[in-house]
Parts: sequence; structure tokens; C-alpha cells
Amino acid sequence: MTTETCMPKHFLMCRPEHFAVEYAINPWMDPAKGADRELAIRQWETLKAAYEELGHQVSLIDPVEGLPDMVFAANGALVVDGRVYGARFAFPERGPEGPAYLRWFRDNGFGKTLEAGFVNEGEGDFLTLDDVILAGTGFRTDRSAHLEAQEFLGRPVVTLQLVDPRFYHLDTALFPLDGRNIAYYPGAFSLGSQEVLRRMFPDAIQATLADAEVLGLNAVSDGSHVVINVEANDLQLELKRRGYEVIPVDLSELRKAGGGPKCCTLEIR
Ligand code: ARG
Repeated sequence: MTTETCMPKHFLMCRPEHFAVEYAINPWMDPAKGADRELAIRQWETLKAAYEELGHQVSLIDPVEGLPDMVFAANGALVVDGRVYGARFAFPERGPEGPAYLRWFRDNGFGKTLEAGFVNEGEGDFLTLDDVILAGTGFRTDRSAHLEAQEFLGRPVVTLQLVDPRFYHLDTALFPLDGRNIAYYPGAFSLGSQEVLRRMFPDAIQATLADAEVLGLNAVSDGSHVVINVEANDLQLELKRRGYEVIPVDLSELRKAGGGPKCCTLEIR
């Protein structure tokens, strides 16, 4: 058993009260089509309820008017060993979210916080395993932030190059199954990074494009249960085959902004 296995987790989430698709900063977003906020809220409530049923603790940050993407809490920070590495967003539309999340942590007693000097979108591009933090770059997070996070957190950070604009954050292409293994969609990564992943994780689940295209890799595992988009059929079968309990959720409305279960979820470690 690894430390990431079967332990109750603590998540920070943000109710999508101001959710909308009113600008396009990734290929999923179409402001002309928009999104149904009421439906997004209902879908988000089922995700929160799923975590609570699994015994995880969910804390909430107040949504801020004018920040329609703030529901994607994963981007708000990276929290490891109680140290909070603040986000610095790539696009001005989301800029104020960084300080808002950092303020939440300061207000809630987290003394060790760092205002990042480099662009990084929190857990969207940093995924924490037992001995290593995997970090994405290519679309949002600057690789200098990888080094900054490594120095601040004292954990080794491995840089991975993202190459497909649909999978613009690491957490759209890869998720930790536990503290030692992952599932990922190889096509989202450069050839060199694919090789790194094969070397580091010979037993990983390699997901299909069909799974990736429904944001099936944007999943949250506690080592036993995997909360995952309902449409990710092949990946769900493979997870079951490997003994995981699969908890499918429908977040179709949030996907119109390019987000899934993991995007809505910031883990507090
Ligand atoms: N519309 C948001 C953006 O483009 C979606 C963020 C999704 N979050 C994530 N962790 N992948 O920034």
C-alpha cells in the first residue's frame, strides 16, 4: 500500500455559481454555444456528493462574480505537505483567480505560501505521486515554474511536454491511480516524454484517444475508487479489470469549458 492509497482525502471545490463559456482559451470552449449554468451546478453537486459518499472531506471557496472558470479549482494552487504554491494564470481572463485561491489558504491557516514568479496553473499541470511530482508544460505552465515548485516543495519534479492543444493541461491527459502508478493518453505527449512515462511507469494504463476525447483522463482516484467521466468506456473497463471501483459522473456541461472531475477538484495534502 502506498500513502496515496485508500486514505480519506481533503478537497477544495468552488460551486459554479458564475460558470459560463464567454471566452475561448482552449479548443473545447465556444462562446457562441455557451453553457447551461443550472445544469452545470447540478452536475457539480453530484461530483461533490460522490466525494462525500466516499468519505472524503470537501471544503468550499466562495465563487467570485466575473470569474466563470473559477469552478476549476485544480488550477488554483498546488498544495503538498501543507505548503501552498500559488497559481499564476497564463490568460488574463483567469488572472484574479490566483490571488483569490491564495487568500483562501492564508485565511484558513496555511502559513507556508508562495506567490509564484512564473506562470503555472496549479494542479492542472502538477500531479503529485509518492516520490515525484509530474509537471506539464507546452500550453499553460512555464517550465521555470517546475523548478520553482521543486525548490519550494522539496520534491523532485519531472517535466513532461504536452503537444496536443485539446489536452492543454497535464490533468487532461494523465491521472495518478495511486502514489506509484498512473493512467495516461500517450498521444498528448512528445515522443521523449512518452518514453519517460514508459520508463517510469511500465505498468501504467495507456488510454485510447476515445477516452481522452471525453476527458476520461481528467479523473480522481483515491487508490481504490476512481471518479471518472461516464463517457470514458474503455478506460472504465480497464480500471475495473484492475480491481478499481469506478464511480462514473456526468459533467458534460463543464466539459464545454474544457473541464472534468479533476479540474473541479484541488487536493489539499
Ligand atoms: N476553461 C478553463 C481553462 O481553459 C478550463 C480549466 C480546466 N482545468 C483543468 N485543471 N484542466 O483554463
